[in-house]
Amino acid sequence: MKIESSLPCPQLPESPPQTGLQFSLATEEDFDEIMAMSQDIYGGLDYLPTRYQAWLQESNRTVILARKQGKVIALESVCVIDDGETALVEGLRVAPQERGKGVAGVLLRFCAQLVKSKYPDIKVTRLTRDDKLGPKDFQKYRLITKQVGILLVRFRAEDLKLRLAELGPDAGIPSQSVPPVRLDPAEVHQLFLSSGLMQDVLPNATIVQDWQPFKPLPSNMTILLKKDIDWMVDDARCPTVASLCTFPFRVPIGEEWYYLNIDVFGKDLDLVRQQFVFHLRRHTDTLKGHVMCQMFLDPPLWKPLADFCRDALKVELVKEYTEQCVVESDLV
Ligand SMILES: CC(C)(COP(=O)(O)OP(=O)(O)OC[C@H]1O[C@@H](n2cnc3c(N)ncnc32)[C@H](O)[C@@H]1OP(=O)(O)O)[C@@H](O)C(=O)NCCC(=O)NCCS
Repeated sequence: MKIESSLPCPQLPESPPQTGLQFSLATEEDFDEIMAMSQDIYGGLDYLPTRYQAWLQESNRTVILARKQGKVIALESVCVIDDGETALVEGLRVAPQERGKGVAGVLLRFCAQLVKSKYPDIKVTRLTRDDKLGPKDFQKYRLITKQVGILLVRFRAEDLKLRLAELGPDAGIPSQSVPPVRLDPAEVHQLFLSSGLMQDVLPNATIVQDWQPFKPLPSNMTILLKKDIDWMVDDARCPTVASLCTFPFRVPIGEEWYYLNIDVFGKDLDLVRQQFVFHLRRHTDTLKGHVMCQMFLDPPLWKPLADFCRDALKVELVKEYTEQCVVESDLV
C-alpha cells in the first residue's frame, strides 16, 4: 500500500525525488523481505520478527518502509506515546549494502514529517541508542536519561536453573530481610502514578522498558500494562530499587533462543542482584533452550554484576560494557 493512497491527510510528505526512494506503509506481505534485510541485526537480538505482526495492529504505531527499485531497503517504526506528545522511533534499519549513504537520515526526516502531519500535537521525537554518540549527534539531540550500562549474558536455561538451585535461596547475596515484591497492575498504577515514590528511583522520571522510554502517565501505563512484564520493587511503601522484566520471547539467533530484557532502576547492589536472581529463577523454572539476557543498570553496578554473573551464576558474558542513551529532539 503506497502512503499517498492510504492516508487521507492532505499534507502528506512527498518522497524526496532525488533519493530515488519510495515510501510505503508496511504490510503483512512485506515480512519476508524485511527479515531478509535484517540478518544479524542488533547482534542477533532483533525483536522485530516476534513483534512485527503485533506492531501492524497497534493503532498508535506507523511502520514505514523505504524501497529502492521496488526492493525493501529500510524500515522505521514510529509509536506515539506520552499522551500524543512524543514520537518514539524504533526498529530503524537499513539493508547492509545501502548503509552509509544517508538512507537512515532521509527515512528519519520523512517519518518525522509524516508523523507531524498525522499527529499535530507531537512535540518531540525520542529514540534509544547504544552506539557511541558524537558531537554531531548532540547538535541534533538532547540526552534524556543518563547513560545506562548494558550487561549482556547468555546461558542455557536448564544449566542456570541447576546453578541457582546449587546456590540456595539467597544465591550468595548478603541476606535481605524482606524479599522483593512482584506488583499487580493496581499496585503498579498506585506506585508509578499516584504515590510519587518512584520519582527518585527512575532516571529523569522516565520508565525505560525494553528500550522504550515512557513518562509515567496513565495513557503510557495502559500501553505498558498490556505487555508481558514482571514489575518488581524491594519495598512497595518505600522503594529504592525497581525492575521490569519481559517474559522470554524468541529471537532469531537460532533454534530455541530466547531474549530476556531486565530494566533495573536504583543503586543498591544487593537489592539489584536480589531482583535479578528472582527474575532469573522465575523464568528458568520452565524454560528450555538458550537465553540472551540483557540487563540495563546504573553504570557503577555493571562491574560487580558482571562478576556475579561470571563467578557465581557461571554464565557467559557476551559483551563488554556498553551504554544505552535515550535522546530526544524537537519535532518542528
Ligand atoms: C544505524 C543505521 C540505521 C544507519 O543507517 P545509514 O543509512 O547507514 O545511516 P547513515 O550513516 O547514512 O547516517 C544517516 C543519518 O542517520 C543517523 N543515524 C545513524 N545511526 C543512527 C541510529 N542508530 N539511530 C538514529 N539515527 C542514526 C545519522 O546521525 C545520520 O543523520 P543525518 O542524516 O541527520 O546526519 C544502519 O547502520 C543499520 O541499519 N544498522 C543496523 C541496525 C541498527 O543498529 N539500528 C539502529 C537502532 S538504534
